[in-house]
Amino acid sequence: MLKIEENVMIKNLVTMRIGGPAKFVITVTDKEDIPEAYKFAKERNLPVWVLGGGANTFSKDEGFEGVIILDRIMGISQIETPAGEEEKEGVAYFKAYGGEQWDDLVTYVSERGFSGIEAMAGIPGTAGAAPVQNIGAYGQEVTQVIVSVEAYDTKLEKFVVVPASEMKMSYRKSIFNSGENVGRYFIYSTTVRVEKGQLNPPFYRSLQAYVDEHGETDFSPLNIARMVKEVRNSKLPDPEKIASAGSFFKNVYLTDEEADEAEARGIQVWRNAKEVGPDSPEKRTNLVNSGWLIEEAGLKGKVFHGMKVSDKAALILINESAESYADLAAAREEIAKIVFDKFGFKIEQEPDEIEA
Ligand code: EPU
Repeated sequence: MLKIEENVMIKNLVTMRIGGPAKFVITVTDKEDIPEAYKFAKERNLPVWVLGGGANTFSKDEGFEGVIILDRIMGISQIETPAGEEEKEGVAYFKAYGGEQWDDLVTYVSERGFSGIEAMAGIPGTAGAAPVQNIGAYGQEVTQVIVSVEAYDTKLEKFVVVPASEMKMSYRKSIFNSGENVGRYFIYSTTVRVEKGQLNPPFYRSLQAYVDEHGETDFSPLNIARMVKEVRNSKLPDPEKIASAGSFFKNVYLTDEEADEAEARGIQVWRNAKEVGPDSPEKRTNLVNSGWLIEEAGLKGKVFHGMKVSDKAALILINESAESYADLAAAREEIAKIVFDKFGFKIEQEPDEIEA
């Protein structure tokens, strides 16, 4: 039996706490629920939106005249070497069903001494959502470890395996959130490839700073995961307590010529940034931190229409008292305009909006 609710406020499903009513919300807890939920939507001619933890999503005030499917399918395990992957000493494969918290997969894998996702500890959201926007942090990205997902293909109306090679991942992007196949796949499970071992210094800037400050010498996956979570906790708001959607703006990526020009204007540019997926069509690996731009524009701690630019991490917008999407949009436009007027870069919203 499907769990179906009607007229649910999206603001109650997402960490940013912004969004109007959804016509239906269906919670799926089993594989069999997935085709049924899509059938329910199809019979009523309604669009579908799949939601994991709601950590990176909100909607407009008019809400969503459709069906939101909440993925609550659970389970994490180490699996046999999948077909097409080579058997190799020290390499292991782990599978998480889409409703699991991504961080629980990180802990499960790190506890067993496998390296590859430990720097992505503490990222809010589910294992099913992780490949959608190719999450990344502290120098690791999902694209580096993803093997495949099992997905319900709504076009073929059956379960399929989508291999990493078909995901077209780049910075915060994949076929699951951009291009012609958006909405086609419901990610049922995510499989990653990890290796016995550990990361070695130098680490990503802010992690390295923590290591230096605390004289850390244990770089085991579990200890890296712990350190990353401490770094995150010191800067990023806990979505359980404070309304936000994580980084509100994307970072800015530049071509080499653009980077030269920006540096000549005194802008901080990171060359060969690690966090762009290898398949990035742009191959723009020069990164300007939007957090830096916002901070340099003097906006840390400033409040726009109830949305506060975090005083700890300028890329984070905290919903202090915004009532509506209109407030959020006004804040977004004002911040982006100030940054554009000062630096000439258009910064873009990073989280997703639920829409038909
Ligand atoms: N910076 C500032 N002021 C700030 C924040 C950042 O000047 O207030 C500059 C500093 O130079 C700092 C640099 O930006 O060294 C990098 O900051 P940080 O390491 O915090 O990373 P970020 O670029 O702000 C990205 C991701 C985060 C991820 C971190 C760590 C995006 C949009 N955000 O942020 O992801 O946790 O790197 O790897 O790519 C998210 O997507 O929701 C998210 C939190």
